[in-house]
Amino acid sequence: MTARDGGADTGPARPLVRAGLTQAGLLEHYERDRLGFLLSAAATHGPAVELTPGTVLLSDPAAVHEVLRRTNTDFLVAADLRRDELSGHRDDPGTDAWMQGRRAVRKGMAPPALRAHRDWLTARAERLAARWRERGTVPEAVRELEDFSARSFARFCFGTREASAAPERTGALLDALVPVMASPFQLPRALRRFLPRYRRSVSAQRALESELRRLLAAPGEGGLVDALAEAGLDTDTTVRVLVAMGLASYRVPAAAAAWSLVALARHPGTADACAAAAGAEAGPAGEPPDIVAWTRAETLRLWPPTWLLQRAAHGPQTCGGWRIPPDATVLISPYVLHRTAPVFADPLEFRPERWADLRPGAGEYLPYGIGSRWCVGKPLADLGLAVLLSVLGRELRFTVERIGELPDVRTTMLPSRLVLGAGAR
Ligand code: HEM
Repeated sequence: MTARDGGADTGPARPLVRAGLTQAGLLEHYERDRLGFLLSAAATHGPAVELTPGTVLLSDPAAVHEVLRRTNTDFLVAADLRRDELSGHRDDPGTDAWMQGRRAVRKGMAPPALRAHRDWLTARAERLAARWRERGTVPEAVRELEDFSARSFARFCFGTREASAAPERTGALLDALVPVMASPFQLPRALRRFLPRYRRSVSAQRALESELRRLLAAPGEGGLVDALAEAGLDTDTTVRVLVAMGLASYRVPAAAAAWSLVALARHPGTADACAAAAGAEAGPAGEPPDIVAWTRAETLRLWPPTWLLQRAAHGPQTCGGWRIPPDATVLISPYVLHRTAPVFADPLEFRPERWADLRPGAGEYLPYGIGSRWCVGKPLADLGLAVLLSVLGRELRFTVERIGELPDVRTTMLPSRLVLGAGAR
């Protein structure tokens, strides 16, 4: 039996529960409140439901774990918008090159490189704190955190090369991509390429790629790009990796940072504890004080910026005891899992201390995903969040002046219309 005929699993397979929604009905509910809809679909229909024919929502942790573990063979990462020729299967040369790029990135994120980056991040965070303290109100917190995050990545990536245009061009590409990605409908490629919004995103991507190529040839040294060159990556693969990483390190970490500041504002006891711990030395492996690590983990549990993962079943599959229809789209929501997995008592409560002795099981806690396509930037993301929580938490006392009732989930989950107050501590 080949994977395409139905992946290996043990025991008899159960059919999925059918929600019986039409495509139009699904969209109506989904567009009104995406997170609320997914939570209520899981509560109403259980952990494995076929929302409409061929669209499956999985919130059974064991099944989720399996899907993510079997990614690149039985479940595929749908090709990104501009690379429809990639199957996402391990056997295809484009996917193979991407996996080679991932391995090189992981080597480049070794502890010495991260330690060297910490001082730069700390100095930058102190400047941000000083600016915010002076102003007292931060009406564009998400934008400013995006800028922080994008400049952190550019610095980590390009070492001493002058990379100031790359963050702006990355932001321009991301802004151009939002209207393309936010829609639940993806038109077939042949039609899509005529849409003005699609063409705008193509030219934004070209502008970023040409800047990256210029930078790769520019004088300077150090940074992740040297590690990619040492690993023997060719220029095209390097540019592809850098575009994907630049996009992934722009809005997603900024969302996590913004949610963590909202949490500090709403939980002054946690803010005081983070502030008190902020001066402590990092642990031997560079780990932050416990309360900072727990606050980070709890923030990512309640507000995972990447709130929806998607896979395409490669033919019919059996997974966690469930029968997945051929070529189905499988939706996995860390937001839903983090609020429904039994390991989290009182799941709606923000309680960082729960992490003192909490060990989630397979598939229960997924802010960075798992399996062969999990977040390759996690070490840098964790470091950035710990530094921001420590420095901003030590210097400032936050209040939430304004926040929208529902998060903005067009792509990354962001606090909507956020305005923070920032006073000296
Ligand atoms: C708090 C911050 C971050 C969170 C919560 C996060 C979350 C995630 C998640 C859940 C995935 C897996 C998606 C999937 O399985 O379909 C992912 C993938 C990815 N992340 Fe992150 N991420 C963060 C920061 C970063 C940073 C800073 C970088 C780069 C420096 C990065 C680079 C990537 C890349 C390149 C992928 C795609 C991996 C692949 O498809 O092989 N991420 N991230």
